[in-house]
Amino acid sequence: MEEKKWWKESVVYQIYPRSFMDSNGDGIGDLNGITSKLDYLKDLGVDVIWISPIYESPNDDNGYDISNYKAIMKEFGSMEDFDRLLSEAHKRNLKIVMDLVFNHSSDEHPWFVESKKSLDNPYRDYYVWKPAKDGEEPNNWRSWFSGPAWEYSKETDMYYLHIFSKKQPDLNWENDKVREELYSIIDWWCKKGVDGFRMDVINFISKVQSYPDGQKEDDQLYGDKIPYIANGPRVHEFLQEMNKQVLSKYDLITVGETTHVTTEDAKQYAGFDTHELNMVFQFEHMTLDYGKLGKWSTNRIPFIPLKKILSKWQYELEGKAWNSLYWENHDQPRIVSRLGNDSMEYRDLSAKMLGTCLLMMKGTPYIYQGQELGMTNIEFQSIEDFRDVEILNAYDEFLDNKLATAEEMMQYFNLKGRDNARTPMQWDESEHAGFTKGTPWIQVNPNYTYVNAKSQIKDSNSIYSYYKELIRFRKEMEVLVYGTYNLLEENDENLYVYTRTLGNTTLLVICNFTDKELSYAIPREYEQAKIIINNYPHRTNNSIIRPYEAVVYCKE
Ligand code: GLC
Ligand code: CA
Repeated sequence: MEEKKWWKESVVYQIYPRSFMDSNGDGIGDLNGITSKLDYLKDLGVDVIWISPIYESPNDDNGYDISNYKAIMKEFGSMEDFDRLLSEAHKRNLKIVMDLVFNHSSDEHPWFVESKKSLDNPYRDYYVWKPAKDGEEPNNWRSWFSGPAWEYSKETDMYYLHIFSKKQPDLNWENDKVREELYSIIDWWCKKGVDGFRMDVINFISKVQSYPDGQKEDDQLYGDKIPYIANGPRVHEFLQEMNKQVLSKYDLITVGETTHVTTEDAKQYAGFDTHELNMVFQFEHMTLDYGKLGKWSTNRIPFIPLKKILSKWQYELEGKAWNSLYWENHDQPRIVSRLGNDSMEYRDLSAKMLGTCLLMMKGTPYIYQGQELGMTNIEFQSIEDFRDVEILNAYDEFLDNKLATAEEMMQYFNLKGRDNARTPMQWDESEHAGFTKGTPWIQVNPNYTYVNAKSQIKDSNSIYSYYKELIRFRKEMEVLVYGTYNLLEENDENLYVYTRTLGNTTLLVICNFTDKELSYAIPREYEQAKIIINNYPHRTNNSIIRPYEAVVYCKE
C-alpha cells in the first residue's frame, strides 16, 4: 500500500467567507461568523477547512485581489478574530487552509503603487511591464474577465499584464526578490500555525518570456494565451524552490488550482516524490459543458465523457500522484442543478447520489459550503442582481461585440455564473436564511424556507445526514482512501458503476444519473455482499436501479 498521509485521509470543507455567516449585521459574512459555526462543521465530520481569501483587499474580485498579504480584510474582522478562529478550530481538531493568491496582487498593493511610479522604482520589476506594440497592447491576449490582458499606465507610458481583472496585475515571478517576498509570506502564516494552502491559479506563475501573440481565428477578438501562461517554462522550478525553502519545513496540506493541466502535468505538480504540492484541482470534468463562448452556454455535462475523464484521472494518478475530488467551489454553479435534478421531486435523491459518486472515489474530497444541503442555483431576474466581476464584464463585452443577446446572457449566467455558488449559506427558515440580521450583499436563494441546515440537521434522512454518513465511511474504511479504482460499464449511458479495492475488500458503487428506473443486474459476486450506503430506504430488488439511486455494496 502507498504511504499513509493525514491529508489523504482528510475531507476538506470550503468556506466562501463573504457568504457563510455574518456576525455583526452588515450583510457580509465574517470571521466571527465562521467561528460561530465550527461546531456545525465538526458535527458534519470534516477535518480541514479551506477559507477563500480573507486578506486586506479592495474586493474587485471578492478578495482574490490582495493589497496586504499579512492583514485581514476589515469587513471580515481583525487579526485577533483570525487568531481566535484558528485556536477554536484547533481545539476541535479542525485544520485551517489559507487561500494564497500569488499569481497577481491587487493594483492597490503598495508594491504595485510603487511599481507604476517610474522605470527606476525599486519595485518596478515586481510586475510585468511592456511597451506598446504598433501603438497598441503588447500582444493579443484577452483577460480572463474580458477586454485585453494589458492595461496602459500613463506614468511611464507602458502597459502592465493582468491575466484577470485590471485590478489584478500579474506578479513577475522571474524576479528573485518577488519569490523571496512570497515565500516569506507563506512562512509567516505557517509560524502563526495555519495548516496548509490552496494556491490560486498556481500553474500560471511562469510565462513564456517573449510574450508572443496567441493564435487567433479570423472571427475572434483575441489570441489564445494559454500556451504561454499555463504550465510555463519555470513553473516546476519555482514550486520546487518554494517547497524546499518553506513548505517542506512544515506538515501541511497543499493544493494547487490548475486549469489546463493534463494528468502528465499533475504527476509532476502532485507527484509522490516530486517535491512540489500534495495535489491539484484539475478542470477537465468542469469544462465538458463549455460551448463556443466558453463557459457561457446552455450545454449539459455529457455523461460518457464525464465518466471517461474522471476515470482517466483515477487511473493515471494511481500510485504516482494524489487526486483531489470536487463538484463545486466558489467559481462553479451548484452541482445538483448542473448535473443532478433540482426539481422538488429529485433534488434530495440526486444530491445524495452525486455526493456518493464523488466521495467514494480516490482522492481528497472537497465539499463546498451548502453542497451538503443540496443548495441549488438561483434564478436572478435582472443583471443588477449579479455581483461577480466576471459576469458584469462579460455582459458588457458580449453585448458590445454582439456575441450574444441580453436574454441569452441572462440564461447563461443563471446556469453557469459564479454567483450561483455565492448566495448566502442557508442556515434556517428565518429571514435571510439566518445568514444575517442586516441586508445580505447578494440575494438569498428563495428556497431557503425548505433548503436549510436547521431542518436537515435534525432529520436523519436529510442530505446533510447522508453526507455525514459518507464522511464517516471515509474515516472508517481504509479502502475508501487507499483502494484502487476500477470503472465498470464504461459505455452505459445512465449508470456510473465503479469499484474500489484494497486487499480482500471491494466496494461496488452504482449511481443512476437519470430520473429513469433502470434494470441492471448487479454482478453475481455481490449478490451476498452487504449494502453499506443507499439513498433509498430499502433495496428490495437486486436488478433494478431506481431514479437517481446510489448504492454501495461491500464484499470482504
Ligand atoms: C481563481 C479563483 C477565482 C479568481 C481567479 C483570480 O480561479 O478561484 O475565484 O477569480 O483565480 O484570482
Ligand atoms: Ca459582517
